[in-house]
Amino acid sequence: MLKRIASYLKGYERYVIGSPILVIVETVCQMIIPLLMARIINEGILKENMAPIWQAGALMVVVALAATITGGLAAKCATNAAQGLGANLRRAEFERVASFSFADIDKFSSSSLITRMTNDVTNIQNTSMICLRILIRAVTMLIASVVLTLSINPRLALVVLVILPIMAVALLILMKICFPLFEKMQKALDHLNEQVQENLIAVRVVKSYVREDREREKFIDANDGFTAAGLRAVLRMVAIQPVMMICMSAATVLVLYFGGQMVLGLEMDLGYLQTVLDYIMQILMSIMMVGMAILQLTRSQASLRRVFEVIDTQPSVTDGDERSLPAPQGRVEFKDVSFRYQTGGAGEDVLKNISLTVEPGQFVAIVGGTGTGKSSLVNLIPRFYDVHKGQVLVDGLDVRDYPLDALRGRIGMVLQNNVLFSGTIRENLLWGNENATEEELIQAAKDAQAYDFIMSFPEGFDTYLEQGGVNVSGGQKQRLCITRAMVRKPAVLILDDSTSAVDSATEGKIRESFRENLKGTTVIIIAQRISSVQYADKIVVLDEGTVADVGTHDELMESSKIYREIYDSQQEGGDGNG
Ligand SMILES: Nc1ncnc2c1ncn2[C@@H]1O[C@H](COP(=O)(O)OP(=O)(O)OP(=O)(O)O)[C@@H](O)[C@H]1O
Ligand SMILES: [Mg+2]
Repeated sequence: MLKRIASYLKGYERYVIGSPILVIVETVCQMIIPLLMARIINEGILKENMAPIWQAGALMVVVALAATITGGLAAKCATNAAQGLGANLRRAEFERVASFSFADIDKFSSSSLITRMTNDVTNIQNTSMICLRILIRAVTMLIASVVLTLSINPRLALVVLVILPIMAVALLILMKICFPLFEKMQKALDHLNEQVQENLIAVRVVKSYVREDREREKFIDANDGFTAAGLRAVLRMVAIQPVMMICMSAATVLVLYFGGQMVLGLEMDLGYLQTVLDYIMQILMSIMMVGMAILQLTRSQASLRRVFEVIDTQPSVTDGDERSLPAPQGRVEFKDVSFRYQTGGAGEDVLKNISLTVEPGQFVAIVGGTGTGKSSLVNLIPRFYDVHKGQVLVDGLDVRDYPLDALRGRIGMVLQNNVLFSGTIRENLLWGNENATEEELIQAAKDAQAYDFIMSFPEGFDTYLEQGGVNVSGGQKQRLCITRAMVRKPAVLILDDSTSAVDSATEGKIRESFRENLKGTTVIIIAQRISSVQYADKIVVLDEGTVADVGTHDELMESSKIYREIYDSQQEGGDGNG
């Protein structure tokens, strides 16, 4: 594990090495001060001689200064090392997440991925700080104090032997009690984060359903849960304090009692009494610090496990290795495809034995009730998910044999819940193809019926979109997403319910320009309204994950009961929004 963590300290090695060295120097300097104090008492005060007082005093100032400077530098190094570790871990996680397929993201859930990249990494960062500074300091102090006490008066050092086991046992008991409590505390924090993130992401929905009160209750529950878990753990930790105080006081009394006798019996100089007392206190303190550091270490072990779980997940969708790719034509073929999601559901097939061919340049529509697997079907084409059985072919080659960027480069996809990113409209559109010229952008915008409203903004293509595109209407957002996919000039254009918020007249115009300007492009569209699909070359009716019927509008009106039902239900609705 340590070796593994060390590999994430790349670029920060000098801080990792520098910090403990500086801490050791700082601690040793501080340990010298009681020795100088003893000299002042023994040589100076007791012998009524000023010279040693001046000498030792001056030395004390130098040593204290050195301790302050090395202490400051040590803090700087430790901070750098810890921040560097955090940065490297976050980068490793981010890179891994970027290569995740949709299925991998489903497995973790986005909100947990966010916690794992922020809170968990911060935990690890804090712990590494504690290890580099407090733990090293405590261990140095412990060793130095033991050595110094033994060298001054081995018999008084025996006091430590009496007190130490008591402290150790108390600490062990505390750890045993606290480990599970910390684990619970971290879980409670997870739950709290989940609540907050879910609420912030969906704040508009919460408000539109006037669910603030219910959500507030859920938040208060989660928050109280975390507070209670935190209190349970921390209160136990506080309970150790009286035990430690008693141990310290007992040690003081014992040292003063036995040490006093030694001084009176002239076995030891008076000046050393205070020094030994100081060192013994430091031994006990450092034991406590080691205990606390170990406690913190185990606390962050859960975080470490969660972070490495992300980094260690192999992306379930990886590049194929076929290098001689067929020319992009836009042919899509499903051969006996079955598919199921790994998460949720009962692991049942969402798509069953689908066989379907879409010829280059065809305009194909997929219809069917909600939840019948339409989105799942088209998501298989750019390999957002991989088939469970069978094959998906694009231009005659299995999608799993394509390098991912080559495959996705052929496909323009507008997802059902697509998003725009903060930035200008132009920046968003260039996602489709970063080398697109101004003319190409304008043409794509015109084809998607987005040009007019873009130009109606004072700043046209340079209009700034807020995160998620909140400052454009739903229909405008959909048309921008279509434009973005079209800028790519894909061989296959897939629109998943992408004109649901666009009025019928505008939708008709989009269809017209597709017909005229995208003659060579295969278009696969999923739509709820029959009016949007009735001119398609081929309409595929999905039902419970299987292809129920295929044909043109007229053929299906004749032969398909499901299609007729959908058609009829929309006629009653009048505007066809069924
Ligand atoms: N990420 C996912 N994880 C688990 N199950 C999923 C996931 N996405 C969809 N499903 C399930 O797969 C089934 C098909 O969903 P799909 O999204 O393909 O339906 P759809 O036909 O596109 O529906 P709609 O018309 O509402 O968009 C549904 O039962 C759904 O619950
Ligand atoms: Mg869908």
